[in-house]
Amino acid sequence: MPVAKTLSAAINGIHAFKVEVEVNISPGLFNYSTVGLPDAAVRESQERVLAALQNSGFEAPVKRITVNLAPADLRKEGSTFDLPIAVAMLLAENLVSAETPPTMIIGELALDGRIRPIKGALSASMLARDQGVARLIAPKENAREAAVIAEVEVIGVESLPQLIQFLNGYEQIEPTKVSVDEVFQQPDWDGLDFSEVKGQAHVKRALEVAAAGGHNTLMIGPPGSGKSMMAKRIPTILPEMTIDEAIETTRIHSVSGKLGANMALVTRRPFRSPHHTISDAGLIGGGTSPTPGEVSLSHNGVLFLDEFPEFKRSALEAMRQPLEDGNVTIARSSMSVTFPSRFMLAAAMNPCPCGYYTDPSKECLCGEHVIRKYRSKISGPLLDRIDIHIEAPAVKWREMMGADGGEPSSAIRERINTARKTQLARFTGTSVYCNAQMNSRQIKKHCELDEASRSILKTAVEKLGLSARAHEKALKVARTIADLAGVERIRPEHIGEAVQYRSLDRDRL
Ligand SMILES: Nc1ncnc2c1ncn2[C@@H]1O[C@H](COP(=O)(O)OP(=O)(O)OP(=O)(O)O)[C@@H](O)[C@H]1O
Ligand SMILES: [Mg+2]
Ligand SMILES: [Zn+2]
Repeated sequence: MPVAKTLSAAINGIHAFKVEVEVNISPGLFNYSTVGLPDAAVRESQERVLAALQNSGFEAPVKRITVNLAPADLRKEGSTFDLPIAVAMLLAENLVSAETPPTMIIGELALDGRIRPIKGALSASMLARDQGVARLIAPKENAREAAVIAEVEVIGVESLPQLIQFLNGYEQIEPTKVSVDEVFQQPDWDGLDFSEVKGQAHVKRALEVAAAGGHNTLMIGPPGSGKSMMAKRIPTILPEMTIDEAIETTRIHSVSGKLGANMALVTRRPFRSPHHTISDAGLIGGGTSPTPGEVSLSHNGVLFLDEFPEFKRSALEAMRQPLEDGNVTIARSSMSVTFPSRFMLAAAMNPCPCGYYTDPSKECLCGEHVIRKYRSKISGPLLDRIDIHIEAPAVKWREMMGADGGEPSSAIRERINTARKTQLARFTGTSVYCNAQMNSRQIKKHCELDEASRSILKTAVEKLGLSARAHEKALKVARTIADLAGVERIRPEHIGEAVQYRSLDRDRL
């Protein structure tokens, strides 16, 4: 069989595409060429494939070897094709039996024949399912991730010799099985808990509303008021992830190579807190072969930006599009890639450079001009995209010394889980998971106001000069507050609370 074929997958963004690997071996002087838009890593695969074959006890044929990756017009990156190329060569030389059932193969080869993990195994497994391919041969370290797709039989392999033994029927390999219920077991929060936070009842309330509906939130207050402390405890009250959310998030982490070995799924909502010196590309995504940035790595979770105005203005402005659209497109001359980016932004800042502008006990030393310049870093359009603005005042000595820290995170999380379930039921059959993600049409449908509520909102719009976007944000937040209260109709007190969370619109920060 001079021409042999195997099936593999190429990753573009978070999607996998079918790639047919064809190997033709014909008589002639030794020559090895790869065609079909391969990038450098694919071309280097030649060295790895030949060395791995040799070190597994197979001499590479001293003939003309042509490897074709089809379709040719699709850009292929990385080292995923090493293994399917090696198997196709062995098939062409009749050294392994043709694989049955239909099989997809992914994996990188080390020179000594070991099989190394690759990026995007979950996406490849989803592709196999969608294409009706029954079996996926994948690196052992990726097997649990791929096996999340129950319809595909995943064979995890450690080395090329082992795979050859398997294909020739000399070795059995048990398909990898993953119980999704088991991987979803309750996470542990490193001992952090909201009960450690004293006072700040209304900030905690705002964070509860934010976590319940997935709303972007900005905390503003003097140094030491507990902003960073509270933000770090947000993960302890985030609602459970649905399986669909977990799969979406896992795909992003997987194509970035950030999923640990033998890990099946990201089951905890991400909480990412990049430092303010992060580059635009680090935040938004980028690179010559585009990789997801923090906005995508926090998809379905929280992106916490502490010291908000210290971030580069360009990075903050570039965040507007992903915040608005829930995805981010990275354009390159050779390709353009889109990554999901539906995260809940949690930001914290001081009211002025010295920090004490709103603190009654300490004098602020900043001039008005300096304060204005500091705040102007957070532009109006960016502020517009933040649903909840909340002041975290200095904690009073009395509160600090009091014993009561209030409710534990578990109690808050229980209410949030209930409110989130209401939302999931509301949005069944759509791609929306929580109130913050509603589009204008959904807002109209689900946020109807009675006469009294409408008049409260109207007054607020006039007094605060709310933009159309800020007006929609208030409606969404009111929806979440009503969901937390367990009622179908938004009541005046719900819209009243939602409007309070627009305080910075008034200050024209
Ligand atoms: N409300 C609070 N309850 C209990 N401890 C608190 C509270 N606020 C602050 N603290 C204590 O003070 C420390 C500093 O607080 P934190 O770092 O959260 O302040 P911050 O508001 O982020 O300040 P900065 O503006 O300087 O970043 C915390 O680690 C905690 O020990
Ligand atoms: Mg802080
Ligand atoms: Zn100041």
